[in-house]
Amino acid sequence: MKPIQIAPSVLPVNFSRLGEAICELDQAGVDLIQWDVMDGQFVPNLTFGPDIIASTRSLTKLKFEAHLMVLTPEKMASRYVEAGCSRLIVHVEACKNLRETLETINALGANAAVALNPETPASAVANALDLVDMVLVMTVRPGFGGQKYMHEIEPKIAEVRKMISAANLDDKVNLEVDGGISVETVTGAAKNGANVLIAGSALFRDPKGLTNAVTEIRAAATKAFASR
Ligand code: DX5
Repeated sequence: MKPIQIAPSVLPVNFSRLGEAICELDQAGVDLIQWDVMDGQFVPNLTFGPDIIASTRSLTKLKFEAHLMVLTPEKMASRYVEAGCSRLIVHVEACKNLRETLETINALGANAAVALNPETPASAVANALDLVDMVLVMTVRPGFGGQKYMHEIEPKIAEVRKMISAANLDDKVNLEVDGGISVETVTGAAKNGANVLIAGSALFRDPKGLTNAVTEIRAAATKAFASR
């Protein structure tokens, strides 16, 4: 597993040129692509159906992951796998039975991951680490890009990393953070144990372009993660 992975959120993209943007992100050196899937119920926003994701699948060899910010992830999982997502991230807050939902995703042949909203304690995923290849610790409230990174979540990032390490799963289970990640904020997340960094606005607002943004965030994250 690559220690540090930089993944863009597709949310800030100009959707009138979605395909070109996917190609540009690939060329900019990202490690995978994250699709922020929102159903207007679990979060007050509505974004990508499976057909939109499927329409870009052939444009890149990069892995797709779907961040399912939806009320019924178990019902929608198969559509997103069929659309070409090899990892599905479900919110523990949306799962009636977390282990069952994760087992459903694994049975579809995709990697399962679990996300924690800012107010949800790390303990909520303590009994699911054997079924996931990643835990996502949200550093903003889900629903919209461009929000301010929540520094107060850093102790929870460290707690989740400690849980992964205590279970001897550091080489199997990634720790992803999402929300307000930039070259300024990534250090705090990575030095507490995050190794997969989702960035949206920070990538697209860099005046020196996508490649520069990816390179700078990767360098800062690598240095901070190694300093733990
Ligand atoms: C929130 C979204 C955002 C997005 C990244 O539901 O998940 O966090 O991916 O947003 P930025 O990087 O623009 O804060």
